[in-house]
Amino acid sequence: MYVCNCNGIRERDVRAAIDAGATRPAEVFRHKGCQAQCAKCVCEMRQMIQDNQQALAYAAE
Ligand code: FES
Repeated sequence: MYVCNCNGIRERDVRAAIDAGATRPAEVFRHKGCQAQCAKCVCEMRQMIQDNQQALAYAAE
């Protein structure tokens, strides 16, 4: 499933960027070597990053 239609960034690409240390949507774009175009995907990327951080916090408890 595509998260970012402008740049063809899939959900798995966002997860790979997060696994590589991305903590902001800008870092996800950088990981893919592109930039935000319309920025409609930024909220979903933020949510994925936040979900991942919460999962890590729960795992650390
Ligand atoms: S959908 Fe990601 S920049 Fe447009």
